[in-house]
Amino acid sequence: MNQLASVSQLYDRVARVLPKAEWLSFEDDVAAILELKRTRNAVILAHNYQTPEIFHGVADIVGDSLALAREAANADADVIVVAGVHFMAETAKLLNPSKTVLIPDLGAGCSLADSITPEDVALLRQTHPGVPIITYVNTSAAVKAASDICCTSGNAKKVVESLGVPKVLMIPDEFLAQNIARETNVEIIAWKGHCEVHERFTPADIAELRDSHPGVVILAHPECPPEVVEVADFSGSTAMMSDFVGAEKPARVVLLTECSMSDNVAVQHPEVDFIRPCNLCPHMKLITLKNIRDALENNCHEVTIDPAIAAPARLAVERMLAVK
Ligand code: 13P
Ligand code: SF4
Repeated sequence: MNQLASVSQLYDRVARVLPKAEWLSFEDDVAAILELKRTRNAVILAHNYQTPEIFHGVADIVGDSLALAREAANADADVIVVAGVHFMAETAKLLNPSKTVLIPDLGAGCSLADSITPEDVALLRQTHPGVPIITYVNTSAAVKAASDICCTSGNAKKVVESLGVPKVLMIPDEFLAQNIARETNVEIIAWKGHCEVHERFTPADIAELRDSHPGVVILAHPECPPEVVEVADFSGSTAMMSDFVGAEKPARVVLLTECSMSDNVAVQHPEVDFIRPCNLCPHMKLITLKNIRDALENNCHEVTIDPAIAAPARLAVERMLAVK
């Protein structure tokens, strides 16, 4: 089969969420990226918030932040392209430093990563001597380097309890920290960072959804405010939400999270009706097929980390990965 024919066949995967005309406008870039991956021995890691033409069209590995970190560590390709945001690309570089790690748009940041600096972490350490600092992976390598261990939304409770102490600092996501605090006896001191996508959901949104779609099952990401998580039916990382839909197969579901997530999960579960109130992450949406192609053609933008920062930051991420 020639490559264009196989690219056309990929459309079957996304037909539920992408009009054919839109897919046709992507086919040239998809074909070029598939060929570039072969010639450069590259893999594409894509977060669950990437658009369906990336997620189902060119990605080799998809998942939540935790899965992408694990897969980055094990990748044996020469080049790793991260279709996600900058902290995810930095984590991949930390865990597999001999590889070329590319991020297609350097501007793909994160409001949580922007909410805290290494100087803030140093001050916290002074103010709370002896209290371990758990840093969400949604932070810069420099902030990770200043902390003791990382966590993701998929393992935060386990990481908190793995330390065997009565009190921890959990930075920078205030809502994640408050949501985890409700599930554990460990005292959690939080920081004031928020995700600009998830902080906008409200309990009133949920009440309205339940009124207009009786029986709907509502899943909320733990970056949502605690009063939202409290009235949702389930809360977990993006991969946990996707697994929930696969296991429970609710007739109707809402994923209170970034918009592309529902598209990507809907493709895998045609029998489930997805109601779609969602918020866009402007950072995730900076990644496109065009700039993935450009990244592979022109080797841009290569992620590098100062070795003095990389060593302690890697330790914090590796400690997290060792938590079972
Ligand atoms: P997950 O680790 O759940 O995929 O979340 C990452 C993220 O950025 C959510 O906003
Ligand atoms: Fe950051 Fe929120 Fe975007 Fe996730 S959705 S990358 S936490 S701004």
